[in-house]
Amino acid sequence: MDSFSTPDHWYRVLIALVVIYLIASIFRFLWHPLGHIPGPLFSRFSTIPLFLQSLSGARAGWIVAQHEKYGPVIRIAPDKVAVSSASGIKAIYNNKNSKSHAYDSFRFQEVKMCIALLDVKQAHTRRKALLPAFSRQNLMEMEFVMRHHLEKFLDWLEKFDDTNTPVDTFKWFRYLTFDVVTDIAFGQQIGMLSSNDTHFIEQVEYRNKRNSLNGPFPFILPVMRLLRMETAKKWDRADEEIASYAVRAREGWAKAGEANRHRVDILSRMEQGSKTNPETALSDKEIIATMMEILNAGSDTTANTAMFAAYELARNPAIQEELHQELVTAFPDPNTPLDFAVLEKLPILDGVCREALRIHAPIPSYLERVISEDGIQIEGYDVPKGTVIGMQAYTNHRDSVVYPQPEEFIPRRWFEATEEMKTSFLPFSAGPRACIGLNLANMQLRIHLGHIFHRYRVTLAEDTNEASMKHVEFFMVRPISQKCNLYFKKYKS
Ligand code: HEM
Repeated sequence: MDSFSTPDHWYRVLIALVVIYLIASIFRFLWHPLGHIPGPLFSRFSTIPLFLQSLSGARAGWIVAQHEKYGPVIRIAPDKVAVSSASGIKAIYNNKNSKSHAYDSFRFQEVKMCIALLDVKQAHTRRKALLPAFSRQNLMEMEFVMRHHLEKFLDWLEKFDDTNTPVDTFKWFRYLTFDVVTDIAFGQQIGMLSSNDTHFIEQVEYRNKRNSLNGPFPFILPVMRLLRMETAKKWDRADEEIASYAVRAREGWAKAGEANRHRVDILSRMEQGSKTNPETALSDKEIIATMMEILNAGSDTTANTAMFAAYELARNPAIQEELHQELVTAFPDPNTPLDFAVLEKLPILDGVCREALRIHAPIPSYLERVISEDGIQIEGYDVPKGTVIGMQAYTNHRDSVVYPQPEEFIPRRWFEATEEMKTSFLPFSAGPRACIGLNLANMQLRIHLGHIFHRYRVTLAEDTNEASMKHVEFFMVRPISQKCNLYFKKYKS
């Protein structure tokens, strides 16, 4: 028998590995360059606590709890530092620090999505190709497309009026945003509102989970594949399905011809940009990767914010009434379209959107960067070059000094927002890698919520409560129950 396959040999290899791990852990504990930074004892020599928290979807809350115990700068793994102080925003999210390898999973085959480009300069070129498509002016020209899908949604909602049947807004707001995003991005009607088919949404869910776990812990997927786990197959299949949808959508877009598509859809901008400006030209694979990225980043985030806003309004009827009054005062005729130019100036609607983004930030996560060059100093701590460091919106949005009663949904707090409130508000991150789709998200939120609460009164269904809406986080946040049932009742005019 080959000596490598004897049980005795494997036994020795195992012991050697354990010894190496223990020695490395002792080294990390005693002499690591981050040894002066406080944090939970076990996290100082092992990644296991962070890994377990990530696996259970409870990482964001766990990091908040560690900050409360150990202060604004903490070590959450041997080589990772988390910061909660606002002074960290500029020091971390700037032109110098690159992203970490936690983003490596965001790719189409070998081509990285924008979010996964580590280097700021490299990302700048990709962002330059995309940003014109997301400009306010370009999106204003697409307002009619958003309204078209919303009208379909509102017509569909009428079926539930007076029937005492709840609507699962976790599902249906996703249908709505997928229909809007695929139309304004690729001129394609994915038709989720009409098909009520959750299959594609499930694929996006699998993909989010895979990216959020296999990015920071890249051993997960290979181990799952080795163990032939069904989830690994689902994750891989989801990736292929979303890619093939993007390829088909692009073919459909090309076949439709210029006369039959929206002049300003995002794909048109990308294709046009590629032809006219060699500096920002995207390859075929980069275009597909970007389309996949738009599907992932552009739908769930907005849908979840609208869902959490509707949930908060359902459990705060006085605020809901205030919003409704604001809307009917601005648009007294129920048959006139609700223009975004007016909606965006309504203070309660604005406060509602901000509070939903603050308490239920769709990407509440620890967003990793790598400290460049000479290192930095934050809150009196030296953080050396090469350290993985990050902040999370979830922590900053719960700072009770900046936002008194941070867990309370108080839209009016934004009427006289302090500089500290504005600085600590990070739903779209900050600096040169902040969200590209911010204008689109803000516009959709105001158009969707404005139209819905102009026409409907919303109340909680019996199974929707704090426990069912508890956050779980896999890069993006969702309610633990994966549903949010609400009753919609139309105002009688
Ligand atoms: C409420 C809705 C949204 C929220 C809260 C949100 C939040 C974020 C955050 C926090 C980041 C930074 C991620 C990081 O640094 O790791 C980000 C990046 C990004 N978002 Fe959004 N997003 C939203 C909607 C959208 C939409 C509608 C699109 C496009 C259709 C989009 C496209 C992107 C892209 C491409 C990036 C990567 C930018 C880069 O790495 O340079 N997002 N988003």
